[in-house]
Amino acid sequence: MKVALASDHGGVNLRKEIANLLDELGIEYQDFGCECESSVDYPDYALPVAKKVADGEFDRGILICGTGIGMCITANKVKGIRCALVHDTFSAKATRQHNDSNILAMGERVIGPGLARDIAEIWLKGEYEGGRHANRIGKITEYEKTHL
Ligand code: RB5
Repeated sequence: MKVALASDHGGVNLRKEIANLLDELGIEYQDFGCECESSVDYPDYALPVAKKVADGEFDRGILICGTGIGMCITANKVKGIRCALVHDTFSAKATRQHNDSNILAMGERVIGPGLARDIAEIWLKGEYEGGRHANRIGKITEYEKTHL
């Protein structure tokens, strides 16, 4: 699995924690910044990661900002992206099983690093169940084909 990782200035510390986690898990990843002391605009980091995941260059993405919300909203504008904003372990597991989410968004100002690491690990290891969920995701994909 190859993971694309990025944050804005509000998520730099948590992004470093998640990079450490990926190292510990032996998961290949590329860090797309930011290397920011001052403030940046989250779409400048969410869009490149979302496009790389949508194009198949990376299997998954992890995006972090202050709340995770801006990253999540932006990533979901890209066709083929199912980005889940997750701040609990139950949702981390469920969104892989049910939504086959391909990007995880988290907010550094919302949760601590311990919980964020647990969420990321569960999400990275979680498997899509298919079955009844495939029909639902198919409806999203169909909408994207005809409207976007
Ligand atoms: C930056 O101050 C903050 O707005 C950003 O990190 C994020 O929370 C946006 O959704």
